Amino acid sequence: MSFTKRYVSGLNPSSAKGLHLGNYLGAVKQHVEFQDQGEGFFFIANLHALNSIFDRATFDTNTHNTYLDFLALGLDPAKCTFYIESDIPAIPYLQTILNNCVTVGEMKRMHAYKDKLQGDTDPDTINMGLFNYPILMAADILVFNPDSVPVGKDQQQHVEICREMAKTFNNRYGKTFKEPEAYIKKEAAAVLGTDGERKMSKTLGNDITIFADEKVIYKQVMGTITDRNRIHPTDPGDPAKNVLFSYMRFLNFDAAKLADYEAKYRAGTIGDVQIKKDFYEHFLNYFAAQRQKRAELVANPDYVTKVRAEAAAQANAIANQMLERVKLAVGIKSA
Ligand code: TYM
Repeated sequence: MSFTKRYVSGLNPSSAKGLHLGNYLGAVKQHVEFQDQGEGFFFIANLHALNSIFDRATFDTNTHNTYLDFLALGLDPAKCTFYIESDIPAIPYLQTILNNCVTVGEMKRMHAYKDKLQGDTDPDTINMGLFNYPILMAADILVFNPDSVPVGKDQQQHVEICREMAKTFNNRYGKTFKEPEAYIKKEAAAVLGTDGERKMSKTLGNDITIFADEKVIYKQVMGTITDRNRIHPTDPGDPAKNVLFSYMRFLNFDAAKLADYEAKYRAGTIGDVQIKKDFYEHFLNYFAAQRQKRAELVANPDYVTKVRAEAAAQANAIANQMLERVKLAVGIKSA
């Protein structure tokens, strides 16, 4: 008997800068692959962005622009269902039910909340949207009852608590949900940022944004921190301390040329500036077709509106079925 795997994953459109290299390598690249292998449900998690964006125009623009980014990167509406979270009312409904499947103690152990507490933030001032974030995320996932959730490592804990909520629900009301597993691509689980130290992140400002103006990308690449011990281009360097080499490897930079560069780096016969410039050119070439596609999407708003509406209809049909099962299970509806 053949078995089609179902995948669910999303991205929070909290940044006006759009998708960065870490999002692409850690998540979206896998989404694009999985749409050919199984049933993909991918989405823009804009209800999540409400905990950090309090301006309606920014919220709307970020949601829309991020939707375009994903389409341009290769999510194909003919192969997967690619929707916007706020178009699916069953999600916040399910969240209300799942609120009762997790404790405050468990929620306090979640990264999003703990990260916010670093520094001097008073826990009493953290908004409930941020605190409840993993419950909304569990609703995003469980409403489509998937097998697998392809994400970067930073989301692993959230997928695990989602499994726990599914287990608790199933124990109380009878088997309703699968317990989905995170799929994390090992080598791209946590792509380093241009500071060479921390995970690439839209909030840390150590990102390379895929659809920014060339000038912005140039600045991001040229600002990359490479081997700190190397003062002059003639000093021997350690390729492992230059994050650009790892980006080159991820983006299929010519292997022989890369090996040559690494040898020259060790010997102190190539400068960081040249490596940065070459990587910049390579980055633009690698994403040239996607950047072109995005420009076409911008010029074709009717197409995007149609795709969004069709995806919402498809996603709602499935999410509403699942919600009916849940309502029956808990007693909101009688059989
Ligand atoms: P978000 O928007 O922070 O990131 C989107 C995806 O990109 C991955 N990612 C990375 N992977 C590798 N290296 C990096 N430096 C890097 N930075 C980001 C993230 O792990 C993620 O897979 N809570 C989620 C969005 C979400 C979601 C969901 C995901 C909401 N509901 C349901 C899956 C299922 C988030 O904030 O991701």
